Amino acid sequence: MSKDSSNTIESILQEQRVFPPSNDLASQSRIGSLSVYKRMVEEASNDPERFWGDFARSELQWIKPFDSVLDWSNPPFARWFDGGKINISSNCLDRHLHGSRAEKLALIWEGEPGDTKSFTYKQLHKEVCRTANALKALGISKGDLVALYMPMVPEAAIAMLACARIGAPHSVVFGGFSSEALRDRLIDGEAKAVITADGSFRKDKTVLLKPAVDAALADGACPSVESVLVVRRVNESVQMNSGRDFWWHELVDSQDEECQPEPMESEDRLFVLYTSGSTGKPKGVVHTTAGYNLWSHLTFQWIFDIRDEDVYWCTADVGWITGHSYIVYGPLSNGATTVMYEGAPRPSNPGAFWELIQKHKVSIFYTAPTAIRAFMKSGRSIPDQYDMSSLRLLGTVGEPINPEAWMWYRDVIGGNRCPVVDTWWQTETGGVMISPLPGATPTKPGSATFPLPGIEADVVDSQGKSVESDEGGYLVIKKPWPGMMRTIHGNEKRFRESYWEYIQPSDGSFIYFAGDGARRDLDNYFWVMGRVDDVINVSGHRLGTMEIESALVSHPSVSEAAVVGRPDELKGESIVAFITLETGRVANDQLVDDLSEHVSKEIGRIARPEEIRFSDALPKTRSGKIMRRILRSLASGEEVRGDTSTLEDRSVLDKLRT
Ligand code: WTA
Repeated sequence: MSKDSSNTIESILQEQRVFPPSNDLASQSRIGSLSVYKRMVEEASNDPERFWGDFARSELQWIKPFDSVLDWSNPPFARWFDGGKINISSNCLDRHLHGSRAEKLALIWEGEPGDTKSFTYKQLHKEVCRTANALKALGISKGDLVALYMPMVPEAAIAMLACARIGAPHSVVFGGFSSEALRDRLIDGEAKAVITADGSFRKDKTVLLKPAVDAALADGACPSVESVLVVRRVNESVQMNSGRDFWWHELVDSQDEECQPEPMESEDRLFVLYTSGSTGKPKGVVHTTAGYNLWSHLTFQWIFDIRDEDVYWCTADVGWITGHSYIVYGPLSNGATTVMYEGAPRPSNPGAFWELIQKHKVSIFYTAPTAIRAFMKSGRSIPDQYDMSSLRLLGTVGEPINPEAWMWYRDVIGGNRCPVVDTWWQTETGGVMISPLPGATPTKPGSATFPLPGIEADVVDSQGKSVESDEGGYLVIKKPWPGMMRTIHGNEKRFRESYWEYIQPSDGSFIYFAGDGARRDLDNYFWVMGRVDDVINVSGHRLGTMEIESALVSHPSVSEAAVVGRPDELKGESIVAFITLETGRVANDQLVDDLSEHVSKEIGRIARPEEIRFSDALPKTRSGKIMRRILRSLASGEEVRGDTSTLEDRSVLDKLRT
């Protein structure tokens, strides 16, 4: 890929191509023109409470109606739909059990070794009820946090819905994280139970999960955890601690298949999901029941313009927010058929995605730019072998998509007939915030286009003032929305400081900022440029530089570590670490391997640096702050530009260049 194909300012300003929705598509879509979109934007802006209240009433099923739509009297703490009672598992399952939807496929699952399972809404309801009863049998009740550390198996989705059914917030920990990372999350959330599997299949290999749970719980490190529920997936022998560990097939399968959904207050917690920020350990983003239900439901419906006959597939992992909102809650709340895939394309099966699209006649496909760039590199001859005529809509998420990859996706995968929706959002926003609407929005390759109705997005300077067109600035949201995160688990101060006090407008209003830079072109299209904080986005996975630095510094050989992102053709960014060693330690290949392994153990394989550079000193200001800007330039082999006058020891620069 040539350099100018990335989302550089130059390339996006030159981007002239516009793809309007076809007349056919527009005429069949819920939001079928820009004027309908604009009318919705106006309605939301004139009377937001009415706008959201009407959708909440018409789109969700309530156990008890709410009294008020929004309480924003104590910003940044929002309360949505106060007085209402609702259960998201019943919105995702029970309400589809009347009529023909009961027999419709809710979940189609494809296992990595080729085994497959599918569940109708009726069957999924039963499984969820059984699991909910099993959790009750383990002593879990409303308010208890349950952690999930699972492969991509149906039990992961079932467990999430079962937790929601009994009002136990879930905390899903990505199965690729290490036992140390799992332990941190179990301790922080005071989890009462862990649901896991003996192991998982990953790209032709078996990886054990249960031993990682054992290690996380060892030596009484997580005293809150009373039980562990284990799915048998890979059939490996794992140790089961009697009284603490239970096999899923023994405990769940024998339960009653009815379980009444717990009536939840709108603002009761639905889940905590840990994500990386600029500082400190990963933070537990808290989402609550009704607002999240509405936002995942509505956004799914709008963005994918879902129809009853659609087969929808999102390739994310349930360990990330995309899996929560767009594999489980959004699709099921809409009564859609959602596909879940345990595997990944790999050298022995490079056409795995396309084969599944062909096999299940997938009509909507949602994946990450990293995957698209990898496919693009291996050429169109692979996807061209499959019949993908069932596709009607394509989506991307997780990182900026360069126009070249966007065009390739539209052309090679979408046969030039499927609109591409580039969806910008974050763990914290609960659901998509900026995205084309397929029947309404003319798309431009590389742009997430416009905010969804009701979302007041802007690009501002550090004082919160809107910047001019085509000028870069901070991407912010100026009004509360139903799916917004409510707090950071156990740390309201950090919630305020990280998201709501970073930019303080002079009028005292609260605006939300979570770390991305953007610009808006003359047609008001948003172009998200990537993180402007110390978060690195590697293949769509968010990692805090400080987390990786702490992992490195905890190694006995390391004195200091600074980690930066380097632009990467395939992954978006890759991790480069600059290290100074303790006296007497020697830099060699063995140490590079050891450090890499150490990071893997502390966080997980996704956090391993691509390159480790050793040096006697790091570039610092006179007050001792590491100058990352300089390291970023050095990592990508660029000239160090800008002001270096605050650098304490200029000779460090020369040493680091080599
Ligand atoms: C980035 C994933 C550009 C962004 C849903 C954001 C994107 C971070 C896009 C959130 C997009 C996500 N274009 N950048 N369409 N989508 N991002 O919390 O930097 O894992 O802040 O949520 O991914 O990552 P998270």
